[in-house]
Amino acid sequence: MSKKILITGGAGFIGSHVIRLFVNKYPDYTIVNLDALTYAGNLENLKDVEEKSNYRFVKANILDASLLEQIFNEYQITDVIHLAAESHVDRSILSPLDFVYTNIIGTVNLLNTAKKFWSGNMEGHLFYHISTDEVFGSLGDTGFFTETTAYDPRSPYSASKASSDHFVRAYHETYHLPTIVSNCSNNYGPNHFPEKLIPLFIHNILEKKPLPVYGDGLYTRDWLYVKDHARAIDTIFHQGKAGETYNIGGFNEWKNIDLVKLLCALMDEKLGRVKGESEQLITYVKDRPGHDRRYAIDASKINKQFGWEPSVTFEEGLSETIDWYLKNTEWLQHVTSGAYQHYYESMYGNR
Ligand code: NAD
Ligand code: DAU
Repeated sequence: MSKKILITGGAGFIGSHVIRLFVNKYPDYTIVNLDALTYAGNLENLKDVEEKSNYRFVKANILDASLLEQIFNEYQITDVIHLAAESHVDRSILSPLDFVYTNIIGTVNLLNTAKKFWSGNMEGHLFYHISTDEVFGSLGDTGFFTETTAYDPRSPYSASKASSDHFVRAYHETYHLPTIVSNCSNNYGPNHFPEKLIPLFIHNILEKKPLPVYGDGLYTRDWLYVKDHARAIDTIFHQGKAGETYNIGGFNEWKNIDLVKLLCALMDEKLGRVKGESEQLITYVKDRPGHDRRYAIDASKINKQFGWEPSVTFEEGLSETIDWYLKNTEWLQHVTSGAYQHYYESMYGNR
């Protein structure tokens, strides 16, 4: 059967890489990108695939249940890969309800629509929910999150993602909806919105602005190149088993301050600046409330079952990422000025 996959949040950072991979790799599938185009959604991320015959874009909010039904009907959706979410921890601290609406209620709307639409025969369908390692809470100096680690979310963002994961599992158990959840560590790469650590600091180094390091800078994250996350999603979508969860990670832990120093060194070299110049921009600032100390994913399940592993080292991925930002200064300018939000109208008019 030729699949008709609804990918939500496809105009965002990770979603755009997933869309590109699927549109190019699976010409027989129809890929429907559903996105509300919030501040984080940018169709400029997808310029290279927007004219492909197997790609459709629909501007819609997952809070609009009746519109979701129309879209399922119109495109005869066979599968869902659900990435649409409010994704930034700092925003969740300022405005938790936005995260409750989109991440929890929006996910339940999608689950209800898939359940209703596939209820005659669940066979051959999949609802694949993309989640985060943050649902597992915070680690001490040692240990890893596995698929069986108890949930212990500590920010409004991770609490909303944990809740959505629970609903997805509940729909599998209660209604036999074929679902998969994957929990991934921190992504980095091209098209990352410059509110998150790496793209914000690339932008600030370029502009010679301060680099605001939270607290003591000794917080640890496990970084994965976004294209490797997209490859893992492709693998799990095609080979994963309904009812299972899978952890995805980079086997690549960095303390924030070490990462920032590496970024400064790479950028000084690429920009022809004096060695050590950008490090002078590092400024320690007030810590994020409830800041999780350390995340580290044990991704051995997908490695053993499917042979998936990251394809690039952190140094390679980071260098490619910086090169992308240096080449795409217009993208960065449009994002920081808000101009990218006019792209939809020029491209799609009133549709
Ligand atoms: P992002 O913020 O870059 O993109 C989110 C996208 O969702 C945007 O295009 C936005 O317009 C869309 N969206 C938001 N609310 C919507 C709504 N109500 N209806 C329809 N569309 C809506 O996020 P990202 O970093 O690409 O993350 C994608 C997913 O992956 C999220 O579910 C996130 O929790 C998860 N995740 C992210 C990371 C990471 O490091 N970025 C790691 C693990 C998991
Ligand atoms: O672990 C997966 C998660 O990674 C995803 O689920 C989230 O959607 C994604 O935003 C990311 O969350 P983090 O909070 O880890 O990412 P962020 O880039 O916001 O911060 C990374 C680390 O850097 C964290 O320890 C906070 C710190 N930081 C961040 C910013 C923006 C700073 O020190 N200064 C900053 O200005």
